[in-house]
Amino acid sequence: MAYDADAASGYTDEVRAKTDHLYPLVEAKIPRFEWELIAPTIARINDLKAEKNAVILAHNYMTPEIFACVGDIRGDSLQLAREAAKTDAQVIVQAGVHFMAETSKILAPEKTVLIPSMEAGCSLASSITGADVRLLKQRYPGVPVVTYVNTTAEVKAETDICCTSSNAVQVCEHAAREAGTDTVILIPDQFLARNVAAMTDLKVVTWAGACEVHERFTAEDIREIRAGNPGVTVLAHPECPPEVLAEADFAGSTAAMSNYVKDEQPKNVVLITECSMSDNVALENPGVDFVRPCNLCPHMKRITLEGILHSLETGEHEVTVDPVIAARAREAVQRMIDLPSPGAPARFEAKAGRDVISVEHR
Ligand code: 13P
Ligand code: SF4
Repeated sequence: MAYDADAASGYTDEVRAKTDHLYPLVEAKIPRFEWELIAPTIARINDLKAEKNAVILAHNYMTPEIFACVGDIRGDSLQLAREAAKTDAQVIVQAGVHFMAETSKILAPEKTVLIPSMEAGCSLASSITGADVRLLKQRYPGVPVVTYVNTTAEVKAETDICCTSSNAVQVCEHAAREAGTDTVILIPDQFLARNVAAMTDLKVVTWAGACEVHERFTAEDIREIRAGNPGVTVLAHPECPPEVLAEADFAGSTAAMSNYVKDEQPKNVVLITECSMSDNVALENPGVDFVRPCNLCPHMKRITLEGILHSLETGEHEVTVDPVIAARAREAVQRMIDLPSPGAPARFEAKAGRDVISVEHR
């Protein structure tokens, strides 16, 4: 029998038929020879999703072959949380980090939530514990606690309401209004808190946490990018330090940055955020040139096609949350979801002279 190299590599006629329509989505990023190596895994994942009634929630920081070729729902943390609450699928595979999978489990306790790597953590989520929040509440009685979704279920359970970078300003103003105060505790990202404080009249207490990806960008980086790329449009994530946002043309969540590029079609753009985001937005906007200095999130990069396939084949790793903690955390997440959608994700624009009043730590 003649040797069939395609069949030996797994890139069979059947795989080709199942994946040919997907290749144009990533062609500008993935060369053909590489595609033929990964297409069998993509085909198998998409078959298993149908067999197991599973959906893949893919965060904007996933690599393009995951984001475009196997992700069913794509977006920022807020969009993924909303969809986890709504999906009819029985199994959710979280192509994102552990706190996102916990949020899905909190919102859909009757579903099986899988994460391809239990090691996919987050420097913000690991910066604070439930006990830390209890101490903060003792230190600031009566002050509402707003928690960034980048936290564990145990931390969410101690708080009044959650927020994401899409709605942080709206949520903080709402929490202060409800509590009849002019102060909120917004934890654990000190930079997000500073950026929110700069946009509101609120006094903001925060925590000494930071995103290990975004805290590394500096205002000098932005000035150098502008000097080397005249006319470039600079978009930054609000987990960056305020000095970075001050140098940017626009700041917003991952979804807000993506929408900005889609709507404005700048000639030349740089996204001050995690690396894969630029790849994904560039593939969807072929007319826009991207400058690509970026920092990798080592946690997000633990999610791979092979890991997703393994999760679907074996049911590993199932994410569970203690039902008592989950019930309390759900209230905080649900209060956020129940707020009117911010519509277009909020843009961060600083008012001069406002800052957090305190950065707390253990
Ligand atoms: P978004 O909510 O903007 O998607 O951000 C999540 C995140 O982890 C950013 O580092
Ligand atoms: Fe956490 Fe930062 Fe990675 Fe987002 S990019 S998951 S905030 S470490």
